[in-house]
Amino acid sequence: CGIVGYIGNDNVLEILLKGLEKMEYRGYDSAGIGVRNDEEVKVFKEKGRIRDLREKVETDFDATVGIGHTRWATHGVPNVVNAHPHQSTNGRFTLVHNGVIENYEQLKNDHLGDVELVSSTDTEIIVEVIAKLADEGMTTEEAFNRTLGELHGSYALGLLDEEDPDVIYVAKNKSPLLLGKGEDFNVITSDAMAMLQITNEFVELMDGEVVLLKKDDIVIKDKEGNAVERDSYIAEIDAGDIEKGTYDHYMLKEINDQPAAMRKIIQEYQDEDENLKIDPAIIKQLRDADRLYVIAAGTSYHAGLIGKEYFEKWAGVPTEVHVASEFVYNTPMLSEKPLFIFISQSGETADSRAVLVEIKKLGHQSLTVTNVPGSTLSREADQTLILHAGPEIAVASTKAYTAQIAVLSILAQVAARELGKDTGINLMTELAKVTTAITAVIDDAPAIEQIVNEYLETTRNAFFIGRTMDYYVGLEGALKLKEISYIQAEGFAGGELKHGTIALIEENTPVFALATQERINLNIRGNAQEVEARGAKVCMISMEGLEQDGDTYVIPHVHEMLTPLVSVVVYQFIAYYAALHRGNDVDKPRNLAKSVTVE
Ligand code: G6P
Repeated sequence: CGIVGYIGNDNVLEILLKGLEKMEYRGYDSAGIGVRNDEEVKVFKEKGRIRDLREKVETDFDATVGIGHTRWATHGVPNVVNAHPHQSTNGRFTLVHNGVIENYEQLKNDHLGDVELVSSTDTEIIVEVIAKLADEGMTTEEAFNRTLGELHGSYALGLLDEEDPDVIYVAKNKSPLLLGKGEDFNVITSDAMAMLQITNEFVELMDGEVVLLKKDDIVIKDKEGNAVERDSYIAEIDAGDIEKGTYDHYMLKEINDQPAAMRKIIQEYQDEDENLKIDPAIIKQLRDADRLYVIAAGTSYHAGLIGKEYFEKWAGVPTEVHVASEFVYNTPMLSEKPLFIFISQSGETADSRAVLVEIKKLGHQSLTVTNVPGSTLSREADQTLILHAGPEIAVASTKAYTAQIAVLSILAQVAARELGKDTGINLMTELAKVTTAITAVIDDAPAIEQIVNEYLETTRNAFFIGRTMDYYVGLEGALKLKEISYIQAEGFAGGELKHGTIALIEENTPVFALATQERINLNIRGNAQEVEARGAKVCMISMEGLEQDGDTYVIPHVHEMLTPLVSVVVYQFIAYYAALHRGNDVDKPRNLAKSVTVE
């Protein structure tokens, strides 16, 4: 699920392979490059990792133009044949594609009656249609444009024409793609990080535009074929931020980054007088809204659940939290003046974007909370709040989750202030305490590793229970464990377990129970006893001030509304060590992609 491309004077092989390596974190199951010298285009593809692809590549092939791709299978299993680039049967055109073409059957029937397709991808159909139209006499640009006009679905495309060494044809619709500029070269990439090795100057590309990428020129055309002028921008990402330094894994680094991320958020969101600071345009959105609709996926959805508590309890604004992929096909009744808040680490999740597109058509206001400035959701929403967590590389999200909760807490406090509600909390002081508490948990990682030794070494399943906010943290704890350790895990509301799921409790089934809220401290302990009586092995995690003898782990005391920021760190370490002990690839878990740009 990533594309790179380069046209210039240097040897392209290493540039593409390094670029693909930088995108490995996004998740993929096969990869390939198509490169050309003065005479021919050669394609190298492999299933598995970039290091496997490296072994296949003829390193002495002297090419200065090329395209590369990592594939996360949608149509067709991950194997060499289905990997990109795909070539037309006549060998003239070579194509990489991200996204999903919905009308591929139609295209095949309309254009390719007699062509034998070798792969089971929609992409091969696109390249064959282009070849067919070119065969019938169209120029490559005409054939490319005509084909684009017939595609339904999402795509980011890079196309090489063997007969023209000076151009890479580029287009996008719904899938992310950036253009990058350099001295005597230009590039395309799905992700700025993949090309930081050679440039940090980028140009945005909009849906429906077509680009002729040359080594000394970038020609952007709109749907009507008119030239488009667009300024470049400098991506403010430090190449050092995307290295893992002395840590064994990105995930471990990113867990450890959390105190610094908290400090950065505190600094970014207050003015010289230490008042909370948010863009007035966003304040207006909050003031005008009669209800908030939080839209997100995965971990970001879990952060949204905590955000709802802040908006409702502090600001008194009714808030709904929805899974993006459901909302788009099953839209609930909307209030009169809804504000849509999109939470997305990457800002690229196609499910969330699909909702944004729909609600924009209805004329509703939108705000994106994201870690990636300039990302699709950020560009397309009316307003953006940045997480300031720094690049997150590990597929399992950690620091983005805590940053999302912190930023949502700030937003809700500002909403409360604007609506004249006194919440009785000095948020920045409390977030500073949270920072210290997170640091204490991080320093205590060896003790948490012991918990893994005791509870998770051989188990096939695990439960995470809690009530109120602790329940939401349990959902995230279970997701983390599933994602990287592959242990079947379920987050459950403590009181609900007895209505069915308790049937799964057997001798020694691990149950993690979280108790950080005074109001439900005794209830959740009661729920823990219910499962313990049925053989479960309970790991009780509580907070200073609420602890009891025999608790397995006690987090430092923080404000009751902010405990998720600290308790989740315990669960992040539990997932990390469980995956590590099982010998799993912690940063690149099987089947998962970091940002899923298909619906
Ligand atoms: C993918 C990732 C998850 C992530 C989710 C939402 O499924 O594997 O870790 O939580 O997408 O991503 P976003 O970038 O929108 O927060």
